[in-house]
Amino acid sequence: SIASPKYRTAFHFQPIKNWMNDPNGPMYYNGYYHFFYQYNPNGPEWSENIVWAHSVSLDLVNWSIVKDAFFSTQDHPFDINGCWSGSATILPDGDVYRPGPVMLYTGLDNDKRQVQNIAFAKNISDPMLEEWDKPDYNPIIDLPTGIQPDCFRDPSTGWIGEDGYWRIGVGSVEEDHTGVIFLYKSKDFVHWTKSEKPLFSVDDIGILECPDFFPVSRDGSKEGLDTSSLNGDSVNDYVLKVSIYELNIDVYTVGKCENDVYIPNDHKGSAGLRIDFGKFYASKSFFDPKMKRRILWAWVNEECSSTDNIAKGWAGIQIVPRLIWLDETGHHRLIQWPIKEIESLRRNEISFQNLDIIPQTPFEIKGLINTSQADVEVEFEIPNLEDAEEYDPSWSMDPQKICSLRNASVSGGVGPFGLLVLASDNREEYTAVFFRIFKAKDKYLTLMCSDQSKSSLRTEVSKTVYGGFVNIDIENTPKISLRTLIDHSVVESFGAGGRTCITSRVYPTSILTDNIHLFVFNNGTKSVRVVDFKAWEMANARID
Ligand code: FRU
Repeated sequence: SIASPKYRTAFHFQPIKNWMNDPNGPMYYNGYYHFFYQYNPNGPEWSENIVWAHSVSLDLVNWSIVKDAFFSTQDHPFDINGCWSGSATILPDGDVYRPGPVMLYTGLDNDKRQVQNIAFAKNISDPMLEEWDKPDYNPIIDLPTGIQPDCFRDPSTGWIGEDGYWRIGVGSVEEDHTGVIFLYKSKDFVHWTKSEKPLFSVDDIGILECPDFFPVSRDGSKEGLDTSSLNGDSVNDYVLKVSIYELNIDVYTVGKCENDVYIPNDHKGSAGLRIDFGKFYASKSFFDPKMKRRILWAWVNEECSSTDNIAKGWAGIQIVPRLIWLDETGHHRLIQWPIKEIESLRRNEISFQNLDIIPQTPFEIKGLINTSQADVEVEFEIPNLEDAEEYDPSWSMDPQKICSLRNASVSGGVGPFGLLVLASDNREEYTAVFFRIFKAKDKYLTLMCSDQSKSSLRTEVSKTVYGGFVNIDIENTPKISLRTLIDHSVVESFGAGGRTCITSRVYPTSILTDNIHLFVFNNGTKSVRVVDFKAWEMANARID
């Protein structure tokens, strides 16, 4: 049944039981990675009166649970009805503010108004940062006038300007449905003043949640930058990511900041590009000073019913943390790749080279004992593009729609080709992650899909098909890679080296009898070549 532990993940972060949503306050401090998250200690459903749970890790793979960091208490009116999302800032030495890790988070006060609170690590020499101090002078930021009391939340990590003022963004919506990220400034991190102009706004989009604002180096280096290296640096671009509540998606733009107003380079009038085209929300990044990189976390919700969640006793997982950096080719896009530490779980590599995948003849990968927790990397080469299907302009460049109309079972010209994962031996159930090339007016378009439509015989689960275009020049370089992390009920895929990412949740019934297989497939008219294939079983990460 759905309550089987076989739907729990082996190497994607999840609590032992109960509900989890947003990642909160991720950071590296004194030798440990800290991960906080929205958690309901009382059951597998979201609750307004939610807490911040806390785990620590040396490698971002294996985790130890620390006691909950923030929860409502009777003596604190500023979060008496719940502790909602927020972010960490590590304040440097100085006498203007208290040095060390500090959290800003949203509290639901005694009237259930959303206000912003501060909390300090009590003992900054405790590497676990177990104890947190919520000063009585909270809230530090009250609801602005004219804003709905339930629409003001999710303070970002702070960044300091050349003028010595700290800045943060807070998500909200104005009366006319304009989504906004308000900007607040402070000298001491405790007293904050709202700027007249918001950091960013988008017309008619509804509330923007969980803003994440950070610099990236423009030269395409994978080296990350501290959030506070924002100002006065002409070699950096800036990324603003927001979560659009009404669409349940995370989007970002790359741009610049002028007088505390963020100006995207492109996508004017919208909030930008999807980070991940699948099930993925409330993402948040942090700078890792140990490895000089920027790492992204995100919540991946279930696709089953709340009745199923109650039967399971748990709901919600996190992505495998991703390294993120700017694509140097000047397209103002991010590239994402699973952190390399996750490769420490790889076991029993199998590999082969140069194999043609014949149309309509799925090739089974044998030799892995357990393909329900695996890491697969495959590089395809397309012998010729002439057979590519014509692109139909009525599809209006909606990749999700095209992936639904042309799912894995619809044979095409060049593609669909890719992987069938979590497949039963008779392929009655499978999740297909694949590419399909189209010939448009004057160029080729590469589409990546994650097709969940056959992922489970169970009828009560959502099987939405996901898709995104892949920003590569397939005509001049007719090769494309796919990496897929398979983990029981999650399939996380990275197309073309992390240029297009799609995460999905699936509940194959065949996993209950360990009837789980892995195939490379090609439903095009001509064969495609696998130039390189590697797969590993993944060991279990430790969460205790
Ligand atoms: C995003 C969100 C945040 C809020 C939190 C509450 O998923 O709605 O805006 O702070 O979850 O749990």
